[in-house]
Amino acid sequence: MKILVIGGNGTIGKRVSAHFAINHEVFVAGRSSGEYRVDIAESDSIESLYKLVGTLDAVVCVAGEAKWAPFEGLSEADYHVGINSKLMGQVNLVRLGVSHLNDEGSFTLTTGILADDPVPMTASAAMVNGGIHSFVRAVALELPRGIRINAVSSGLVEDAVEKYTTYFPGHNAIPMSKVVNGYVKSVEGKATAQIIRMYDNT
Ligand SMILES: NC(=O)c1ccc[n+]([C@@H]2O[C@H](COP(=O)([O-])OP(=O)(O)OC[C@H]3O[C@@H](n4cnc5c(N)ncnc54)[C@H](OP(=O)(O)O)[C@@H]3O)[C@@H](O)[C@H]2O)c1
Repeated sequence: MKILVIGGNGTIGKRVSAHFAINHEVFVAGRSSGEYRVDIAESDSIESLYKLVGTLDAVVCVAGEAKWAPFEGLSEADYHVGINSKLMGQVNLVRLGVSHLNDEGSFTLTTGILADDPVPMTASAAMVNGGIHSFVRAVALELPRGIRINAVSSGLVEDAVEKYTTYFPGHNAIPMSKVVNGYVKSVEGKATAQIIRMYDNT
């Protein structure tokens, strides 16, 4: 398969792209690193990327930002960071990407446990994840030519424990092999419209 991994040099993305590179042709894209450059918050940038890489079998997005801050400190502009980047960035990857996918291709988006089990300071980040879950379930009903779509929603991943552990008291870190398997299930399996939850109770 020809697989585009956006955010493929990030904490999760580098594990995902390295795994898929064993058996597939992988194109790694990122905002400031990777073979291809893209800012998913900009539709023009997404379109340029799709033109460059050509027809694909799978698009995997492991990129997107949202602002973490106490609810009282979150401005409207702060919410728009997550809406423009993680939410609409991933929606636009699908909207603009359908015509670049082969029949029975797939989209795999990334959300996270905050959609189901939020922690303080995540009113924006959790909201965006929940919106993506609803988008995935709805758009799957209308994608043409057997194209599938799923989201992988992980708990705090092992490789990010040092960075985030104080925000997630009592959460067990998810092993990277389990996180990667969520993406494998989406890309190499047959499921669609699924939120693939990789939490510590599954
Ligand atoms: N870390 C966790 O424990 C965890 C758990 C569940 C879900 N998630 C979610 O998984 C995703 C990735 O997390 P991560 O920890 O791997 O993050 P990360 O280490 O910060 O990596 C994110 C990657 O995405 C790229 N990126 C960010 N914004 C982009 C944009 N606008 N356009 C294109 N590329 C962009 C970054 O590229 P540059 O570095 O070049 O900017 C980087 O390669 C996030 O949506 C996060 O919420 C993370």
